[in-house]
Amino acid sequence: MHLNKNAFALITGASSGIGQATAEGLAALGKNLIIVARRKDRLEELHQRLEKEHGITVKTYSLDVSDLRAVETFYQDIAGLKIDMLINNAGLSRGKESFEDYNFSDWEEMIDVNIKGFLKIAQLAIPFLKATKGHIVNLSSTAGLEAYEGGNVYGGTKSFVQMISKSLRIDLITTGIRVTDIAPGMVNTEFSSVRFRGDKARSEAVYKGYEELSADDIADNIVYCVTRPPHVNIESLVVYPTAQASPRIFHKK
Ligand SMILES: NC(=O)c1ccc[n+]([C@@H]2O[C@H](COP(=O)([O-])OP(=O)(O)OC[C@H]3O[C@@H](n4cnc5c(N)ncnc54)[C@H](OP(=O)(O)O)[C@@H]3O)[C@@H](O)[C@H]2O)c1
Repeated sequence: MHLNKNAFALITGASSGIGQATAEGLAALGKNLIIVARRKDRLEELHQRLEKEHGITVKTYSLDVSDLRAVETFYQDIAGLKIDMLINNAGLSRGKESFEDYNFSDWEEMIDVNIKGFLKIAQLAIPFLKATKGHIVNLSSTAGLEAYEGGNVYGGTKSFVQMISKSLRIDLITTGIRVTDIAPGMVNTEFSSVRFRGDKARSEAVYKGYEELSADDIADNIVYCVTRPPHVNIESLVVYPTAQASPRIFHKK
């Protein structure tokens, strides 16, 4: 296993779900962390716990990645730190309506976070990652590979992430920076609760009748990708629950 314990992993969306589980997985290996999300209380709890349990250094930043000026200030604040991993994970879905009925501001929120925030976080990380021959892991989705009812713009933002991952592989080829795209199927996190704005019945129904993935399942795959030797780049992984064959096809009991 290859891991530089003197450099930091920067994880966006670390206050919940896949980002939090990845922070926990990397911390357990002794990796220092910079954890970012909007909910400061969640980050602080994680910060204290991971430092105590694993003797690592954790830095916490409350940041809305869709506030592009705030992202610039954040990178100015961490200038000088050695970073060799970016887990570009912060993202969300809002709503699941037919195209003609969609609330336009829900589309805008997804575009602002999943596309514009994602891009700004990635671009400003590159000088740090060049210095360490680091690794970028982008979280796309199987929703970016195949369309489903009501997935329209969310799916589009995740296809965008997949295309940018491929572009980064090309544009960064001379730098030694690795780029991996992870496309998960159904993972039980706060994702559906955010999508359906806290509608418990609707969000719980998403995970009923089959064994869905956990955030730890995806974190396990991320940790695997970032601990391969420097000459090995896993370009993409598509990870489904066994009982899911596409965004629309499930075997439910
Ligand atoms: N769950 C799934 O089935 C699934 C499947 C495929 C792909 N994904 C992708 O995986 C990634 C992680 O999702 P998850 O399932 O772990 O969902 P989650 O539990 O809702 O976590 C999302 C994380 O993103 C952060 N975030 C959202 N908007 C943000 C913003 N404007 N600025 C900063 N941070 C923001 C949230 O933190 P705060 O709210 O504290 O800011 C939270 O930490 C997303 O990109 C999602 O699209 C999820």
